[in-house]
Amino acid sequence: MGKRLHGKKVVVIGGTSGIGFGIAEAALGEGAKVVVASSQQSKVDTALKRLGGQSNGTTIDVKDEADVARFFERLGKFDHLAYTAGDWTPLRTGGTLPEIEIGAANAVFTVRFWGALAAVKHCHRTIAPNGSITITDGMVAHRPRKGAALNTAMAGAVEHLARSLAVDLAPVRVNAVCPGLVLTEVWDSMPADQREERLKAATQRQPLARAGTPAELAEAYLYLMCGTYTTGQVLYVDGGLSLV
Ligand SMILES: NC(=O)c1ccc[n+]([C@@H]2O[C@H](COP(=O)([O-])OP(=O)(O)OC[C@H]3O[C@@H](n4cnc5c(N)ncnc54)[C@H](OP(=O)(O)O)[C@@H]3O)[C@@H](O)[C@H]2O)c1
Repeated sequence: MGKRLHGKKVVVIGGTSGIGFGIAEAALGEGAKVVVASSQQSKVDTALKRLGGQSNGTTIDVKDEADVARFFERLGKFDHLAYTAGDWTPLRTGGTLPEIEIGAANAVFTVRFWGALAAVKHCHRTIAPNGSITITDGMVAHRPRKGAALNTAMAGAVEHLARSLAVDLAPVRVNAVCPGLVLTEVWDSMPADQREERLKAATQRQPLARAGTPAELAEAYLYLMCGTYTTGQVLYVDGGLSLV
């Protein structure tokens, strides 16, 4: 079988780490020209060294709409956008709803929701009409936790954004991936034994009782790039967490 993304240009915002890096590797493997982007130059440099091949990279701060606009102006025409940018501090601050300060609450949405919307807004003139956009939420959309109400609201909003953009932007296809627990760099700061314990506790009830890998997630994004009759969908890649 030929390479599925031969001759295609794939952009991964958040592609210097974790799931995004997995997508970049997988897209390269399928013959794409890949552009990875994130806010820290050092991460872009490291990712490009690790990727090699037909890859390029640049910084983008999705918190700054003007920067997002400049990024897409410089990029020119392309085929597929995967959006996996995520910052972790606002998600960890949490608090039960009555305690939440409304101004600060917006920080939960800044990168994952408003950043995704800014990317879509500024890419839609240069993305190929038969191209695709895939954004990212998380199982917290469907498995609320105490003190994480905003995370659930934000993740749900990302899913609904994908559904509505699929209608607005057709024939460009828009989908979302909803990951379960994935072993990415976000876990690196935790001592190994604590990490094992936390991962075990978090996944033991799942039909597939382990964390996923970035490569396993990447497969979903690649399907959504190549699946030319699929739009407005949310693909759960969660080891079966949604079943229990
Ligand atoms: N890992 C999981 O278990 C899991 C589970 C459910 C959902 N998810 C979701 O999947 C997505 C990716 O997660 P991950 O674990 O792969 O995260 P990650 O390894 O921390 O990667 C996040 C990426 O986003 C970039 N980023 C952060 N702030 C940015 C900004 N302002 N502008 C541009 N890029 C920015 C980071 O690079 P810089 O620091 O250089 O900006 C990095 O490349 C997130 O939305 C996360 O919520 C992950």
